Amino acid sequence: MGKFRIKGGIPLKGEVRIGGAKNAVLPILAATVLYPGITCIHDCPKIVDVLTMIRILESIGCTAKWEGKTLLVDTSTASNFEIPAKLVSEMRSSIILLGSILGRFHEIKISYPGGCSIGPRPIDLHLKALRQMGVRIEEEHGYILCKTEGITGAKIHLDFPSVGATENIMLAAVFAKGRTVVYNPAKEPEIVDLQNFLNRMGAVIRGAGTNTIVIDGVTKLSSIEYTVIPDRIVTGTYLVAAAISGGEALLHNAQSKHLYAIISKLREMGCMIQEEKDQMYIKAPSHLKAIDTIRTYPYPGFPTDMQAQIMALLTIAKGTSIISENIFESRYKHAEELIRMGAHIQLEGKIAIITGVDRLMGAVVKAEDLRGGAALILAGLCAEGETIVCNSRHIERGYQQIDEDLRTLGASIQKIKDEE
Ligand code: UD1
Repeated sequence: MGKFRIKGGIPLKGEVRIGGAKNAVLPILAATVLYPGITCIHDCPKIVDVLTMIRILESIGCTAKWEGKTLLVDTSTASNFEIPAKLVSEMRSSIILLGSILGRFHEIKISYPGGCSIGPRPIDLHLKALRQMGVRIEEEHGYILCKTEGITGAKIHLDFPSVGATENIMLAAVFAKGRTVVYNPAKEPEIVDLQNFLNRMGAVIRGAGTNTIVIDGVTKLSSIEYTVIPDRIVTGTYLVAAAISGGEALLHNAQSKHLYAIISKLREMGCMIQEEKDQMYIKAPSHLKAIDTIRTYPYPGFPTDMQAQIMALLTIAKGTSIISENIFESRYKHAEELIRMGAHIQLEGKIAIITGVDRLMGAVVKAEDLRGGAALILAGLCAEGETIVCNSRHIERGYQQIDEDLRTLGASIQKIKDEE
C-alpha cells in the first residue's frame, strides 16, 4: 500500500471530468456472465474493485481486455462456477455474481464476502430471495453452495431496499421461468443503469428507480456496447473538495439529478452550485455554515457513501451539526482520524455531533475504508501544513486517480511509497 501526501490551504480552481460509476459497473460486469460472448463496456473506471472483479471473472474462465477506457469482456469460455475465496474476501460486491452465475450455470460455490471494514454486512436478503426463486442453498464451512434445476419467477418483498439484493434478484430473474416482481427494491441510479444495460442485451425489465421492479424471463441475450453512468459519489467527493478548500470547480460528465440530496446540503452550507446538462459548477462561500441534521438513507436519501466526506466538510463549518448514520454500523472510523487533525466530533452510537473549528491541522492519518479514506484527503486539502493519508489502496478501490484529478484542480497532493 502507498500513501497520499497533501499540502493544505490551497483553494482549488479548475475543471475535471468524472468517470464511470463503480457501483454501476460492478453489477454490469457480473451481468456480462449471462451472455456467452463479448460485451463492450465504455467509460469503465480502472479502479481496484474493477480489477478485482476482472480477476474473479478470469477465475471462472472469462477473458477481459482494455482498450483505453473501454473494457471488452468475453464470457464465452466461462465454465467454472466456483469463486476463489481469496478474491471474494477482497471485495464484498463479489456476492452480486450469485444471480448471474446461477442464471447461466444453475450452480455456484462462493465463500462469504469480505470488503470494507464498515460493520456487519449480512446477505440474508439475497439468499431468502433466491430461495423464493427455486434455488437450493446450503451454507457450510464459510461457503455458500447454490443449485437450481431452473430459476422460477417469484413475488419478492424486500424487508429493506438492499442495493446488492435487488441487483442479484434482477440478474437471477433475467432467465427465470415466468415473471419476477420485486417490491420495495433499492432505487439507486445504479439499479436503473443495470436495468438499462440488461434491457439493451434483450432482457425485459421495467420499474427500476420506482417502488416495484418487474422482470419477465427471456431465453437469450445478445452482444452489446454500453456506456456506464458517471460516478455520483466521485462527483460529490470533488464538490466537497472544492468547498472544503474554499475554491471552485467545474465538473464535466456530472449528473446533478443523481445528487440532489448532496447538492441541497452543500447549498444549506452556503455553497453556490450551478447545474447544467452533464456538468456542475461549485463555488465555496467565504464561511461554511453548519447543518442541523444529515440522516443517511437509501436513495433518494442522503447516501451513506458521502457521509464521511460531508463530515470532513462539517468539521470546519461554523456551528454544530449532527449526522445520523442509518445504513451501516461502525461507519465512523474516519471520525477518530479527523479528531487527530483537530476536529471536534463526539460519537454516540449512530450519531456524530460535529462542532466546527477554525482550522484543521495536518497529521499522519490512516484510511480504514474507501470513503473514510477519501474524507481524510479532503480534510488534508484544508488542513494547516502537511497531511499523510496511509493505506492508499482503500481509496483506490473506488477512485481511479484522485491525486491526479485534485492536482488538475490545483491541489498539492502526491502519491508516495510506504517507505518514503
Ligand atoms: C451498496 C454499495 C455501497 C453502498 C451501499 C448502501 C455497491 C457495490 N455497493 O452496497 O457502496 O454503501 O449499497 O448504499 O453497489 N443488509 C442486510 N441483509 C442483506 C443485505 C443488506 O441486512 O442481505 C443491510 C446491510 O447490512 C446494510 C444495509 O442493508 O446495513 C444496506 O446494504 P446494501 O444496500 O445491500 O448495500 P450493498 O449492496 O452491500
